[in-house]
Amino acid sequence: MKRIIIAFGLVGLIYACGSEKEEKSSKKEEVKETTPNYRDLGLDITNTAQKTLLKHVGQAMKMGGPNAAIQYCNINAMTITDSLSQAHKVKISRVSERNRNESNHLADADLPFWNHYKSGEANVQMADTVVNMDGKHIYYRPIYIANPACLNCHGQSGTDILEGTIAKLDEFYPNDKARDYNLGELRGMWKLEFEGK
Ligand code: HEC
Repeated sequence: MKRIIIAFGLVGLIYACGSEKEEKSSKKEEVKETTPNYRDLGLDITNTAQKTLLKHVGQAMKMGGPNAAIQYCNINAMTITDSLSQAHKVKISRVSERNRNESNHLADADLPFWNHYKSGEANVQMADTVVNMDGKHIYYRPIYIANPACLNCHGQSGTDILEGTIAKLDEFYPNDKARDYNLGELRGMWKLEFEGK
């Protein structure tokens, strides 16, 4: 049976952009499978990315409030996903109909999946999915405003998002569409495009 070995050396890379002590060990874990299970892999990668982003945003918030955290996201959101991308040979993005960063817009091919998630009931989180498009595996996973902390930067302007934060958002994201969300709403989707078959 073919064995696939996933190196977890990327942990060091991710923490390198935070104040965290670098974890240099490159532990190897064996996964006994004949073909990669893209859904498990997708869930794993997005969990790691989400956890890491949240942790760093939380740290930046504690140290400098939402303004510092926005600056942090602006500079590092891509770096974190880039490290994971390289480690897993997968293109990672977060896309949304109401995107903050202009590069996170929906592609035409994403629309059926976006509409599917959008049709979901309020406050019900829907399942992730793997599709095969032009011979490539693509993993989608919905992202919800699952946490009141998200509202500091994606909630109602003036109440949830404070004046200073609004100014910072305007500065970095003049075409920001990612405000005025409520708790539980669909915010975006993770999109993972795996290389190879
Ligand atoms: C400190 C402010 C802040 C908080 C808190 C925050 N975000 Fe964001 N969010 C941002 C910024 C800034 C970006 C743009 C990042 C970039 O430039 O890539 C962003 C981008 C995103 C995107 C990518 C799509 C887009 O609009 O560009 C998603 C999805 C997202 N946030 C979801 C969440 C969720 C869910 C939470 C709560 C768990 C959350 N955010 C908390 C500031 C924040």
